[in-house]
Amino acid sequence: MQVTDIKPDIGTWVEASKEVLLSGGHATELRALLEQRGVLVFPELHFTNEELVAFTQTLGTLAPEIRGEITYKITMDEKENARADYLKGAFYWHIDGTMSKMPILASLLSAEALSKEGGDTGFCNTYAAYDHLSEERKAELDGLRVHHSFWNSQLYHQPEPTLAKLEEWMSLGSNELPLVWKHASGRKSLVLGSTAQYVVGMEPQDSAKLLHGLRDWATGEPFHYRHKWSLGDLVIWDNTGTMHRATPYTADSGRMMIRTKLEGEEPFAA
Ligand code: OGA
Ligand code: MN
Repeated sequence: MQVTDIKPDIGTWVEASKEVLLSGGHATELRALLEQRGVLVFPELHFTNEELVAFTQTLGTLAPEIRGEITYKITMDEKENARADYLKGAFYWHIDGTMSKMPILASLLSAEALSKEGGDTGFCNTYAAYDHLSEERKAELDGLRVHHSFWNSQLYHQPEPTLAKLEEWMSLGSNELPLVWKHASGRKSLVLGSTAQYVVGMEPQDSAKLLHGLRDWATGEPFHYRHKWSLGDLVIWDNTGTMHRATPYTADSGRMMIRTKLEGEEPFAA
């Protein structure tokens, strides 16, 4: 297995054969690398669904989707995924699973079909973004809590929902989380993204400046990697130390990603 850093603060290319990866022999090393680098890219691996599932299981516990699916189709095409509409929320920076106490550890995305236009995936390292703040700024953020809601993330792509639609989104949860996640490892990361609605106890204007300002910082060039997909690429991101988003693509673009997820191992903690 050969590994090469993409940028100083995010991303690593991993070159290895399917057989080597499926053997599980590098699983411990890959898990460590994922935590350190945020995103691992395995170019043109062309895993089948079965291989993707088997590889996922070498890295941890596979997390099924809400309706029990083991693999999941990420597409805007409603004929392929009835919940495609919600996936438009993925066009904005987010962390997966902020509605739960224990977010998923990681997601694996395998490129089955590409879009001619759009459909890149951006990632940013929320550990590095925190680490590079000034000590003064870190002290200001310490102890702050943020209200997250699913409906907030949906307003980004559909700002004028019907009341019925808003209530449907509202039924999908909300959560109060620390702004700075103190991990069991001792490292700290920022918890932000499109579900982050307001800083608890703060004036709306100050809260918006803080959340948008930090997102702007965290997604800035030093912490950011934009993946331009080739067919068969596999990308894994550490969902506990990154945010991600897709650049917009249309329902008829043909873009189809197959996703598996790893069960969370650490709750959000302050
Ligand atoms: C996801 C996601 C982004 C993409 O699968 O959780 O946000 O580029 N995907 O498809
Ligand atoms: Mn996502």
